[in-house]
Amino acid sequence: MPTASDVLDRVLVLEMVRVTEAAAIAASYLIGRGDEKAADHAAVEAMRKAFDELYMDGTVVIGEGERDEAPMLYIGEKVGGAIGKGPKIDIALDPLEGTTITAKAGPNALAVLAAAEEGCLLNAPDVYMQKIAIGPGYPEGTIDLTKSPTENVKSLAAAKGVEPHQIIACVLDRPRHADIIAELRALGCGIVLIPDGDVAGVIATTNPETTIDIYMGAGGAPEGVLACAALRCVGGQFQGKLLFRNEDERARARKWGIDDLDRIYSLRDLAKGDCIFAATGVTDGSLLSGVKHLKGGKFTTESVVMRASSGTVRWVRGEHHHKD
Ligand code: FBP
Repeated sequence: MPTASDVLDRVLVLEMVRVTEAAAIAASYLIGRGDEKAADHAAVEAMRKAFDELYMDGTVVIGEGERDEAPMLYIGEKVGGAIGKGPKIDIALDPLEGTTITAKAGPNALAVLAAAEEGCLLNAPDVYMQKIAIGPGYPEGTIDLTKSPTENVKSLAAAKGVEPHQIIACVLDRPRHADIIAELRALGCGIVLIPDGDVAGVIATTNPETTIDIYMGAGGAPEGVLACAALRCVGGQFQGKLLFRNEDERARARKWGIDDLDRIYSLRDLAKGDCIFAATGVTDGSLLSGVKHLKGGKFTTESVVMRASSGTVRWVRGEHHHKD
């Protein structure tokens, strides 16, 4: 019987694209329709169904929420067409990363998932995570979450061989980031303020074409794990710390086996071992083009699938036809 590693390698890498494609296509019918819930629901249903086609015994470790709050793709749900028989794979997923973006037809909405051998992806609770990320090619330790934005920008600027004001940062446009933004403005940095979608924001640091050097700020912890799976494949540095607003959130973390609530997680703490990251664009963005509906019932998708152990990145352009 093939090991989980063989299956990640030979079978699942490309198959995962079918899953994110299915979710992105389903959500694409709701782009700009002002209905976040409907878009999310369509993506979730399509992704759930697409998993059934895969020969694996999958377990959702990051999903749509806990069992009592999500009818489908909840944490702990078994997915795949070979439950009890196939290789055991852990899945982190976000069928629609950017529900509001999709509803408003904004940029960078993605259907996204990460897959790894059992136990390799952190069971992140649905709380915020303070994040800092940079792309590949810098000395280890260039960023440090315990230091201020100013110190991090100066460290990165020195490593890049530029002045701090030449650094471009990506930050979620939220009132909670007022202090970070003020520090970055005082340094004269460029700030790309994004309305949503920090998986794409973190990954943007790895692509020089985006001009984004560093990602900073608090976003969803599950999104942090997904972004780390991508960074494990293409390189880069990441640190994250869970943020808790109340005792209920702390209890959630403990329930998933997290005892040290102040821990600073590195890339490999969040996504270790071999892992796959797959994403399909829902709307146009810095990583991928969105789903395009063309004349004659034809539509196109753009996806990327990456694998940590080989560092292979595959770009997949799909042409699809409506089946009536
Ligand atoms: P959804 O797809 O669930 O709407 O998440 C979008 C997102 O912007 C994430 O990318 C980000 O991590 C999180 O929401 C930020 O949370 P908040 O909107 O509460 O600031």
